[in-house]
Amino acid sequence: MLEQISDKLKQAEKIIFVTGAGISQESGIPTFRGKDGLWRKYDPMKLATIDAFYEDPKLVWEWYEERRKNILAAKPNLGHLAIVQLEKKKPVHVLTQNIDGLHQRAGSKNVYELHGSIITIKCTVCGFKDKISTSFSKLPPLCKCGNILRPDVVWFGESLPQDVWQAAISQASSCDTMIIVGTSLAVSPANLLPIYAKQNGAILIEINPEETPMSGTMDISIRSSAAKALPELVTVF
Ligand code: OAD
Ligand code: ZN
Repeated sequence: MLEQISDKLKQAEKIIFVTGAGISQESGIPTFRGKDGLWRKYDPMKLATIDAFYEDPKLVWEWYEERRKNILAAKPNLGHLAIVQLEKKKPVHVLTQNIDGLHQRAGSKNVYELHGSIITIKCTVCGFKDKISTSFSKLPPLCKCGNILRPDVVWFGESLPQDVWQAAISQASSCDTMIIVGTSLAVSPANLLPIYAKQNGAILIEINPEETPMSGTMDISIRSSAAKALPELVTVF
């Protein structure tokens, strides 16, 4: 299949990656909906909504601190690194639902964090916002202004950062190739990005060991893991 479109891929001028939790799975970061997924063990309504946060900020923070420790100790894998290799040859933008910062740590230059960042912390009241990689001794941590701090992530029911989302739509609508890696495409609005690309006539390639609701729309579905499939795929360009 790849051979059939390899000429087109060689001519690609604007490549967009849409990534989800699956690309970091081989770095030891659990996904949400797959086997061993976080949402199979935990109720997102108790841990990832603003109501849950105000109901029990300590509980939500304990869960985030555990994830922050795991994420900060994790390393980018061959999947993240393959994208960086392709960036040396072609214009590449990465639209990620991940909050783990592994694309940036791998060296990717144009990363759009659709769901925010677990490393960035912000105040619930004043404008304070900063990258904090150390753990907090007292939970929930407080801002200098006296109010509770929170991770700068998008919770269920919250909007995506509008500047990032608008930029993502514009990138997706103008690409000629979109590579969708490690996302169940279950969460809106990020799951609309392949549709914007398709409307522009882009080639859609999916890398996921499992089928997704949009597998039928893909030009190619590679049923393999990100760290296995991406290093090979990027050599075709
Ligand atoms: P999901 O957990 O929904 O989906 C992960 C996908 O990765 C699944 O389709 C798996 O089959 C696939 N996968 C697993 N291991 C893989 C591997 N090694 N290589 C490639 N693919 C693999 O994660 P997301 O689609 O990212 O949002 O979830 C979207 C959003 O839902 C998250 O950003 C988060 C979550 O609730 C918020 O918290 C707002
Ligand atoms: Zn504050």
